[in-house]
Amino acid sequence: MLQDKDRVFLNLYGLEDWRLDGARKRGIWSNTKDLVALGRDKIIEEIKESELRGRGGAGFPAGLKWSFMPKENDGRPHYLVVNADESEPGSCKDREIMRNDPHMLLEGCVIAGFAMGAHKAYIYIRGEYWLPTQRLEAAIAEAREAGLLGPDACGSGWAFDIEVSRGAGAYICGEETALLESLEGKKGQPRLKPPFPAAVGVWGCPTTVTNVETVAVSPTILRRGAAWWKGLGRPKNTGTKIFSISGHVNRPCNVEEEMGIPLRELIDKHAGGVRGGWDNLQAVIPGGSSVPCLPKTICDDVLMDFDSLREAQSGLGTAAVIVIDQSADIVEAIQRFSHFYMHESCGQCTPCREGTGWMYRVMSRMMKGQAEVEEIDTLLDVTKQVEGHTICALGDAAAWPIQGLIRHFRPELERRIAEYKAGRTPVAAE
Ligand code: NAI
Ligand code: SF4
Repeated sequence: MLQDKDRVFLNLYGLEDWRLDGARKRGIWSNTKDLVALGRDKIIEEIKESELRGRGGAGFPAGLKWSFMPKENDGRPHYLVVNADESEPGSCKDREIMRNDPHMLLEGCVIAGFAMGAHKAYIYIRGEYWLPTQRLEAAIAEAREAGLLGPDACGSGWAFDIEVSRGAGAYICGEETALLESLEGKKGQPRLKPPFPAAVGVWGCPTTVTNVETVAVSPTILRRGAAWWKGLGRPKNTGTKIFSISGHVNRPCNVEEEMGIPLRELIDKHAGGVRGGWDNLQAVIPGGSSVPCLPKTICDDVLMDFDSLREAQSGLGTAAVIVIDQSADIVEAIQRFSHFYMHESCGQCTPCREGTGWMYRVMSRMMKGQAEVEEIDTLLDVTKQVEGHTICALGDAAAWPIQGLIRHFRPELERRIAEYKAGRTPVAAE
């Protein structure tokens, strides 16, 4: 369990002042000039050494990603783009950082931006995040006023400024290249990769798109050192992480914990346990709607980090832990996700555009038992035709929850089909 001395997010619950004075008391902006003075290479080396992995869901090594930005100057400006379009169902951690400690993110932007050779950062924020937007803008104004941003940011000699750009409610704009299209004022549709944004990003310029939490923790890693960060969590799954715990728990919450904490300990210690007790647990979706669910038997001892959850055939994703107890209809829950992905598909590639609708319609029949048993395998086969065959990860995200359902709850699907064939209306198993 994370000790207080290792906590990075000191105002996660908004109990203290979020403004500049409060931020300074928590050590934010204390020696930013010295951190910049480390130089681009040293900053990136330290972030690489820390083994920090991106907190937006994919877990790509952060230092490596930052290092992709060109070193030589070809005349194109460089940009840092913070992905604050937090729209993954179940995830609400970035919101808490931005509304309760916006200066943490701003200081992180200065450090990350400098390391990438950028003079400008855009924070692309989910349109529905009204209060976080207001606080970020107020914090930016304070930082400019104090000389922390501007032509000589923090007295470092490096010009740096930040602009907030609001999304308009499309989930797909959280995909990094759709986000860049939207930032440019176009319809938010993912681009083909490669080229990756570091080569061709916003307005054709070198860009790194990175998650709020990743940027916000980077000054603390530099202050306290990569060795300290690596001492938390497990190898290749280092540091602390904010988990959003929701669903059938006694106390839904966001909490900062050590990577690799057992799922059961996380839920029991911080969320007051599963409603009705651990034995009442049916399944957990450990990383937001895009990752497969896990049945109770696996939840009993799985660890919460990228590699452990991958081994369990799920994923850490955004670390949004959705707890489902025995009272819930698990098939209906996954069917609702299918509807969500169908609705949010941008429609530009056929497997996703057609596949998401097809999967939703079959899931709707499965929910009521109106299917043939053989169709379970047909459905599984279609998810595999969609997975890995689309421009962006939304296709995978639509396929994986259904794969998880079939992997762990096939008997429940079969039971419903048998009930329906016997002339009864299937209801969720309790
Ligand atoms: P990805 O694995 O394709 O890429 C991750 C990052 O690494 C990207 O920034 C990408 O540009 C970079 N990258 C990967 N390979 C690279 C290479 N060879 N060269 C240069 N850069 C490279 O994953 P993606 O599509 O960015 O994210 C998918 C994840 O996003 C899902 O696992 C899901 O958990 C998460 N997600 C998060 C949401 C949120 O609200 N935070 C919403 C929806 C999904
Ligand atoms: Fe659009 Fe879906 Fe293709 Fe992504 S996978 S580009 S959301 S159609």
